[in-house]
Amino acid sequence: MASVEVRNLSRSFGTFKALDDVSISFEDGGFYALLGPSGSGKTTLLRLIAGFGYPDQGHIAIGGESVERVPLEKRNIGMVFQSYALFPNMNVFDNIAFGLDVRGVPREDAAREVRRALELVQLSELETRRPHQLSGGQRQRVALARAIVINPRVLLLDEPLGALDKALRLDMQVELKRIQREVGITTIFVTHDQEEALTMSDRIGILRAGQLVEEGAPEDIYRRPKTRFAATFLGEANIFEGIWTDGRLRLADGTLLETAPGAGRGATGEPGCCLIRPEQVRIAGENDGGTGNRLEGRITRRLFAGNWTTVFVDYQGKTIRVGQANTDFLKLEDGSKVTLAFSGSNTIPLQS
Ligand SMILES: Nc1ncnc2c1ncn2[C@@H]1O[C@H](COP(=O)(O)OP(=O)(O)O)[C@@H](O)[C@H]1O
Ligand SMILES: [Mg+2]
Repeated sequence: MASVEVRNLSRSFGTFKALDDVSISFEDGGFYALLGPSGSGKTTLLRLIAGFGYPDQGHIAIGGESVERVPLEKRNIGMVFQSYALFPNMNVFDNIAFGLDVRGVPREDAAREVRRALELVQLSELETRRPHQLSGGQRQRVALARAIVINPRVLLLDEPLGALDKALRLDMQVELKRIQREVGITTIFVTHDQEEALTMSDRIGILRAGQLVEEGAPEDIYRRPKTRFAATFLGEANIFEGIWTDGRLRLADGTLLETAPGAGRGATGEPGCCLIRPEQVRIAGENDGGTGNRLEGRITRRLFAGNWTTVFVDYQGKTIRVGQANTDFLKLEDGSKVTLAFSGSNTIPLQS
């Protein structure tokens, strides 16, 4: 087990910068999600940590030891890809034992390690099956066992659940988390599924065009993102644009929005934007005076989702999403005029 330290890492393909000066720390035993659009450099970052190729610039340390010039086979890292790449002609046991054989681990020791890994992924009964006799989820577990059996210092997972259907995916999320806790291994997990990143990880890093845009605990990034990109990439977002006026944002119609303090606030006269999450917006009742931000709008559409309704409200030609818990019986109809209320402390200034 070990921490991973990445400093000022860059990697280009021709003139294209796939990774651009990325610095990030992965703590020992933590579960990290790397999130970002397709092509943002997630796989490139994992491959450099694993040792598939070398960076153009920057440093990588594993357990405090500099590894950017250490070849892959000496880094002792376990890796699982979206395509499992099991050996089709070998059974489950031999697939898992392969990495130990390559390392010259004696047969008896190897057998013990393989059985322990099989137990961990709960596949002990299936060790003589071939990959084609397994379900997608089971193949994925074999791949995980194969990565863990070598007792790696770090586990790198590149969209390992991407090929599974929704139900299986949710099961595997729970399984993966359990296994990671049991082994206590530092894990870096690439996903493009934001919910997966929020529920599974201790910390999230968001990549965009080869750069690390933001990094932090899931709840912090969700509730108080610093950038417009992170605010809109992670979760549903209402974004207001305007001109900064003494820490408040002046909208086009002259309304002044109170905002929370933060680096995203610009100096008076500068253009800027702020975020309010749908679940932080209330539809105010008739005698509901209240303070904070208030906007008059008109309901255009409602999406009923059982415990929750998303209400779409038109405000000056802009659609605002309101998350309404279905616990009360506010009479809401399309076309009704409503007052939206939300507090300044939940209105987060954003850097663009
Ligand atoms: N070996 C390569 N040769 C040329 N371009 C590459 C290579 N590997 C990755 N890229 C490019 O680098 C960018 C980042 O790729 P990648 O790290 O795979 O993104 P992600 O995993 O976030 O989808 C993409 O535009 C991709 O086309
Ligand atoms: Mg990728």
